[in-house]
Amino acid sequence: MQKPTYYSPDGSLKAHLDFARLGFDYLACPYRFEALFQHGLWRVRGIIEDNTLHLPEGSQCVHYGQQLFEGMKVQSGRDGKIYAFRPLDNARRLGRGAEYLQGPPVPEAMFLRGIEEVTAANHPYVPPFGSGAALYVRPFWMGIGDNVGVKPAAAYVFRIFVTPVGPYFKGGFGPDKGQEFLVSRYDRAAPHGTGHIKAGGNYACSLKAGAEAKARGFAEALYLDPAEHKYIDEIGAANFLAFRGKELLTPQSTSVLPSVTRDSLMRIAAELFKWPTRECKIALEELAHIDAAACCGTAAVITWVKRIADGEREWKFPFDPRWQQLYDRLLGIQTAVEEDPFGWRYEIKV
Ligand SMILES: Cc1ncc(COP(=O)(O)O)c(C=O)c1O
Repeated sequence: MQKPTYYSPDGSLKAHLDFARLGFDYLACPYRFEALFQHGLWRVRGIIEDNTLHLPEGSQCVHYGQQLFEGMKVQSGRDGKIYAFRPLDNARRLGRGAEYLQGPPVPEAMFLRGIEEVTAANHPYVPPFGSGAALYVRPFWMGIGDNVGVKPAAAYVFRIFVTPVGPYFKGGFGPDKGQEFLVSRYDRAAPHGTGHIKAGGNYACSLKAGAEAKARGFAEALYLDPAEHKYIDEIGAANFLAFRGKELLTPQSTSVLPSVTRDSLMRIAAELFKWPTRECKIALEELAHIDAAACCGTAAVITWVKRIADGEREWKFPFDPRWQQLYDRLLGIQTAVEEDPFGWRYEIKV
């Protein structure tokens, strides 16, 4: 199709949305990117308008969960440019998922092209710098076809939609914005299963735990390691971080999603701030010796964990100014307020 063109009465070329007040909700933007895998080849369909999928009813993604997704953000920089953040890491994580679910990986070049084209096509929806909002980018991959048995699909759809979003947890980040979490006895993924890939089924399996936590007034469920229920795994759709003394810790586990945000924060801490960091098992009982806790992810950025409850027990944590330092540096790198010594910003020309 032709490159989308926008005109506006006031010449602003920004969607008339109250960007500063957006929540984490779906808003249908005009365009999405799509490609189809068939006969052993990916074929780019390009930018399309229809936000409804038309799938064969026997599709593996519908019956057997042969489906993956990614989540990343595109933001406006202080320099007036538009940036994605480490998109290749999302492409590679999707590739690991495709390998596990026995389907074709999305070529990295096609993944990046999709991110660029879908952002450019929807550029009036990229929130302005300083609004606190971002364009959330949702690539996803599905096995499709006329099928009924349990086997990998022969054809796949790869699609990317975007939607402008505000904070994931109500209120966003700050010393007065602590969130409370409930330890769940349900598992979102098996010990040697799919926790490390972004398969939709993991999230279906987290709905009950999440609903029970929310019904009791908590923001989300905290998951323990599924083998022993002894160690902290992660919180909802976010990885766990903690300070014990000077050291920044994060759980070592095969059932958590390797978070791009966590990797970024651990590297900022170790390489820029010179703080000691460690990936290690963190037993629930050790929360008594933790000085501060947080969770992190593309959507959650860094969220201060104020309280964790488990039945009659609870652990409370103060706001630690080091969360603010990490938050400011991460956001600063993403939005060109700070230098980018790691080469994480990925400019998108619109
Ligand atoms: C289960 C889970 N853990 C952690 C994360 C954070 O990962 P990332 O920082 O790559 O968004 C996510 C979100 O993608 C997630 O779904």
